[in-house]
Amino acid sequence: MAKELNFKQELTACFGKPVAENPTQAMVEAAYRHHGLAWRYLTMEVDPSDLGDAVRGARAMGFAGFNCTIPHKVAVIQHLDGLGESAALMGAVNCVVRRGSKLIGENTDGKGFVTALRELTDPTGKRVVMFGAGGAARAIGVELALAGVTHITVVNRSAKRGEELVELLANKAKMATEFVPWRSDYRVPEGIDVFVNATSIGLYPDVDARLALDVSTLRPGMVVADVIPNPPRTRLVRDAQARGCQVIDGLGMLVNQGVIGVEYWTGVRPDANVMRRALEEVFG
Ligand SMILES: NC(=O)c1ccc[n+]([C@@H]2O[C@H](COP(=O)([O-])OP(=O)(O)OC[C@H]3O[C@@H](n4cnc5c(N)ncnc54)[C@H](OP(=O)(O)O)[C@@H]3O)[C@@H](O)[C@H]2O)c1
Repeated sequence: MAKELNFKQELTACFGKPVAENPTQAMVEAAYRHHGLAWRYLTMEVDPSDLGDAVRGARAMGFAGFNCTIPHKVAVIQHLDGLGESAALMGAVNCVVRRGSKLIGENTDGKGFVTALRELTDPTGKRVVMFGAGGAARAIGVELALAGVTHITVVNRSAKRGEELVELLANKAKMATEFVPWRSDYRVPEGIDVFVNATSIGLYPDVDARLALDVSTLRPGMVVADVIPNPPRTRLVRDAQARGCQVIDGLGMLVNQGVIGVEYWTGVRPDANVMRRALEEVFG
């Protein structure tokens, strides 16, 4: 008997510019293969002036969704039909999901971070110090507030960005928070449960870059998280391990935001270990 043939694959993608070095395709397609899904994830360079046409094209071709990365995370919102709660709070979208005939913008970066954190500790009632006030820091800060963290101290080089983030967390996410300008080696105060580096310091090729941080104030048992995915074993990760801290590396956040995105698109909860191994192969 002839078997049924189907050459039509479900489509997902990443829109960004530059985007060629973004490893998400390797991670997501490893999950599709592992779970026997006839799906594709395409890495697409989209110029800002073409973003509207790209989204219309994705609609016309029935994409199940797509990730947005630099420089499209804010600009994409005007082309969508609605936003999830944390994307609306942050004003930034990294994952678009087709729900019925609508394209809905979600932000999975912070959710991925919180998933990785929950593997080590319950965020409820915790006190956090976070370096950085850019896109990653906003996503993490908002999601930590929604997860029940009690207090966040934002430490950032630019006071303007730091104060904007603190205002967002206080006014929109109703979180107790303060801004500390980042001048010299920062000493993590007593009573802090979680320390996060959400700056780009340590990202390849600047792999030996040192955070202005007094690492002797990282105490054993504290959770220390770094967002830098490449290389995963940053100087901060190594210092924190040497101090007896519990560590979340940048792959933890990257993999978990990918898990959430794949589940949004396909309805299948993918195996995080398969996705992490795919990234570890990419980063050698
Ligand atoms: N693991 C993941 O899943 C994941 C997801 C998203 C992003 N990331 C990573 O997160 C990092 C930040 O991304 P982003 O989108 O937030 O970037 P961004 O919006 O450009 O923000 C960069 C942040 O780093 C700070 N910074 C950069 N260089 C600095 C320096 N030399 N000294 C002091 N502060 C410095 C900036 O401070 P100023 O405000 O003072 O400029 C700002 O707070 C990137 O490395 C990215 O790869 C990881």
